Amino acid sequence: MERGMRQKVAVLDFGGQYAHLIVRRCRELGVYSELFPHDIPAKELVKEGTRAIIFSGGPKSVYESDAPTCDPVVFELGVPILGICYGAQLIAHLKGGVVRRAEQREFGKTDFFIDKEDELFHGIRRRITVWMSHSDRIEELPNAEILGHTEHSPLAAFRIRGENVYGVQFHPEVHHTESGKEIIGNFLFRICGLERNWELKDFVRRAIEEIRREVGDKKVICALSGGIDSTTTALLVHKAVGDNLTCIYVDHGLMRKNETEELLETFKRLKLRVVHVDAKERFMRRLKGVSDPEEKRRVIGEEFIRVFEEEARKLGRVDFLAQGTIYPDRIESARAQSGARASRIKSHHNVGALPERMNLRLIEPIKDLYKDEVREIARELGLPEEIIRRHPFPGPGLAARIIGEVTEEKLRICREASFIVEEELKKSGWYDRVWQAFAVVGDDLATGVLGDERRLGHIVIVRVVESVEAMTADFARLPYDVLENISRRITNEVEGVTWVAYAISSKPPSTIEPC
Ligand code: XMP
Repeated sequence: MERGMRQKVAVLDFGGQYAHLIVRRCRELGVYSELFPHDIPAKELVKEGTRAIIFSGGPKSVYESDAPTCDPVVFELGVPILGICYGAQLIAHLKGGVVRRAEQREFGKTDFFIDKEDELFHGIRRRITVWMSHSDRIEELPNAEILGHTEHSPLAAFRIRGENVYGVQFHPEVHHTESGKEIIGNFLFRICGLERNWELKDFVRRAIEEIRREVGDKKVICALSGGIDSTTTALLVHKAVGDNLTCIYVDHGLMRKNETEELLETFKRLKLRVVHVDAKERFMRRLKGVSDPEEKRRVIGEEFIRVFEEEARKLGRVDFLAQGTIYPDRIESARAQSGARASRIKSHHNVGALPERMNLRLIEPIKDLYKDEVREIARELGLPEEIIRRHPFPGPGLAARIIGEVTEEKLRICREASFIVEEELKKSGWYDRVWQAFAVVGDDLATGVLGDERRLGHIVIVRVVESVEAMTADFARLPYDVLENISRRITNEVEGVTWVAYAISSKPPSTIEPC
């Protein structure tokens, strides 16, 4: 929404795992913020309406030859800068200081002592607990005022003399840092003089107006999957243009148990105009004999586009395609293209090629939002709680959870077992505490006993992860009795399963979905 014009906080991404959290904290404080590549030219930042710059943390050491750096001109813009962790070390390095490997790594909670009054620490207690995660430390910084220290970091917070350039060695964006949000708030409001300009309630009104202005009385289509992103998008567009929006729901046969029936019912309640396409057989036919994960995704993506295009053509002239792209999707693909992660980790299927093929203009009303923000908007728009709280589900559906060829038998096992996993998590109160939870099935068989008889059956792998925005993930430390119930029910209730295993790999190096 009026993106170029709004005053914003630019967070420069030096590869740290918490970079997104910084953006989110700024938004929570009511100031619009976006993540940019660390080497974005300073003039681009000016064009973007940047009024504050934050350097994120990152895994490198500033003294290494391939360490990421920033355009030096950013220091000449007169825009205040706050460096966090690697960001602080980079400022020290570029301003003539010395950064070296520390004898004592600081990791986790540490006591931080404020040594000097400064706006950055206005209203903050003199001694707070902060979150640290670094192996290097700033040893000297001649042009700086030292604002605070910890036991092992004599220069844990500083300000470059005569400039609005600050650095903190700790992570104020992380919840474990006491008063972290206040420190970021002090930077934005007291040092940068920013005003609050980001409120989600406003967002809905503005988004609807903007869509209405852009679309006029033309026709819009939307690929509706029933996930929160596409459903929220459809609702926003529907509020703007009413029945000039037609949604197409393609059932590729890879949905969760009872999902299609429940979704169609919900769409009806929301009064969305939906074309339901039952394409199960087409997809299964195309998937026959395909076992390579990338190939499976490609086939599903291609078939999806075909089905969607056929249906769309039946609607006559359509000018716009509404798509539920969200902010992390854009950042992920930008990172993947920038070479920071040169290889695409997985090709995420969407209707990417459609706008060009069908000469459609894209509407992406939630492209600047994080998942939590989408959830909030969805509530505001009256989306039912089941959809809002439902775990994310990949475009290729259960095919992403079936290792090897998608067969009817493996599909049944994956669907039934996943249903049990979700049901047990709901019962035990874990469902809302985790990011995703499902069952995986492959071709490996293991021996079991049924009565007196030994027989072979499938191995089901249960995957339950905690995550922030799916960038990184860790397995959920479920209590053994919850795992036991899941395992017992799967072997008892799902025909053809003899073993149940729990996936304990984190992302990285694994991904959340196995295929
Ligand atoms: P991975 O498996 O890459 O997944 O760790 C990260 C997140 O993305 C979801 N995912 C997808 N979402 N289309 C989607 O819309 C896809 O093709 C797709 N593949 C994975 C996955 O469920 C997880 O939340």
